[in-house]
Amino acid sequence: MKNAWPIALVCIAACMLLSVSAFGEGGPKPQPLPKAKTIAELAARYDSSKCMECHEEVHDEWSESLHSKSILGSPRTAPTIITAIEKGLKLFPYSGVKKDSDITVESLMMCMKCHLPQLDEATDDVAREIVATIRGWQKAHKDGDHDKAEKLEKTIASLNIGCMICHNKMAIIHKYADGYPQPDTVYGSQVGDHEDESHPKMAVAPAIKESIFCGQCHGQGPNFELDHPSQCATAYGSYLFAYVAHGGSESCQECHMIKSGLGHDMQSYRDETMRKMAVDVKVEGRSLFWRKNKEEGVLPIGIVNVEIYNKTGHGIPDG
Ligand code: HEC
Ligand code: HEC
Ligand code: HEC
Ligand code: HEC
Ligand code: HEC
Repeated sequence: MKNAWPIALVCIAACMLLSVSAFGEGGPKPQPLPKAKTIAELAARYDSSKCMECHEEVHDEWSESLHSKSILGSPRTAPTIITAIEKGLKLFPYSGVKKDSDITVESLMMCMKCHLPQLDEATDDVAREIVATIRGWQKAHKDGDHDKAEKLEKTIASLNIGCMICHNKMAIIHKYADGYPQPDTVYGSQVGDHEDESHPKMAVAPAIKESIFCGQCHGQGPNFELDHPSQCATAYGSYLFAYVAHGGSESCQECHMIKSGLGHDMQSYRDETMRKMAVDVKVEGRSLFWRKNKEEGVLPIGIVNVEIYNKTGHGIPDG
């Protein structure tokens, strides 16, 4: 019995090591890179075209998705960011923002937390450059200067949720246990060497096939961790508390990437395949004659019964 404790300790230590090697694909928190000082610098840091030569199909799919233009949007997002500044930030007495030059990374995070999480790697000048670029784009449209509008639209779309946001920056959720993403590694579901010169390693992102991975940006409700909570997407909340709670078992990835056949072109109702997967509609109609009352007599009426069954994993529409 004397030796039981040391043995138990060795076992516990071994188990901990095991769990580290099984899940700990990340590592210690890396030194942050110097802050990007311009849109161009931030865009270059996360440029997905670097991955195109070897992952052409994935890149083509991703280019069609809204992730590839996540602050331009459909293009409804960029103008709405301006509205949030004019009707929100500038009117709130304690936001510290009275004019565009007061805008900071922190003040834009109420949108960028999900639309451009890498903004936390940039200076406040970049936050102001983004706002100025969106305003310039809106003005070029108004003035009918299409070339300029197109050029500025490209600049806005150069900031997006690219390959290295999902396969590096946001790849590991539980960082105390699984470690922090390392700058030389792409995270997916394989371990080994990676042919890309600037990312020579491949490692496992433990939750990349789980809904929680998408939940990082797809919203549960108000973002309470912010000084001024915002609310936009709530699909992940609805997924957890309505779909899973009622026995739903598919993941976001299964429906949006695999069953849809769309892969990295994650889509919603704008896409026909997704529309077909969305709802079952049953319509029954009949007509009859109805004796209403003495004055109006017998009237022809129609009865239409419409049943709509939501087959998605969340409430629709969202946001
Ligand atoms: C020189 C070619 C090359 C370049 C450039 C490249 N990759 Fe890869 N990548 C590969 C190959 C080959 C594999 C292994 C594919 C396989 O086994 O299915 C791979 C695998 C991966 C995986 C793991 C996939 C899985 O199944 O888990 C990810 C994630 C990935 N690459 C992301 C990227 C990203 C992001 C970039 C751009 C920063 C990039 N790659 C650039 C060649 C490349
Ligand atoms: C880094 C944050 C982030 C992650 C991670 C993320 N998304 Fe998104 N997603 C967004 C944002 C932001 C938009 C909307 C961009 C816009 O139009 O302004 C979006 C758009 C979408 C859309 C299109 C919505 C529409 O209205 O057409 C779908 C579908 C989608 N995401 C599914 C997924 C799935 C599935 C995953 C997980 C595999 C995922 N997303 C992971 C942030 C994210
Ligand atoms: C919790 C993460 C999150 C935050 C914070 C957030 N959004 Fe979103 N937003 C999303 C996602 C994900 C989508 C796309 C899916 C959806 O509609 O459910 C979206 C969609 C949108 C859309 C419609 C997209 C399109 O292309 O038509 C607009 C506009 C938008 N957001 C603007 C904003 C603005 C402005 C802010 C800040 C005031 C903001 N969002 C804050 C995650 C977020
Ligand atoms: C919004 C998050 C997101 C973005 C952006 C994203 N990926 Fe992925 N990627 C995923 C997820 C989730 C999977 C795993 C899908 C599954 O099998 O469940 C995946 C799988 C992969 C795989 C392995 C298998 C496959 O599907 O081909 C490769 C390679 C890959 N991604 C490369 C890329 C490249 C290159 C880009 C940029 C052009 C990119 N990804 C952008 C989320 C993302
Ligand atoms: C059972 C399949 C299924 C699951 C699971 C599922 N979705 Fe969807 N989702 C769909 C279909 C189908 C649509 C198209 C309907 C629509 O856009 O109105 C859709 C639409 C969306 C939209 C657009 C919403 C809108 O305004 O119309 C977003 C964003 C989205 N899904 C994200 C997610 C995320 C994130 C998850 C996981 C938390 C998820 N989905 C899980 C099937 C699914």
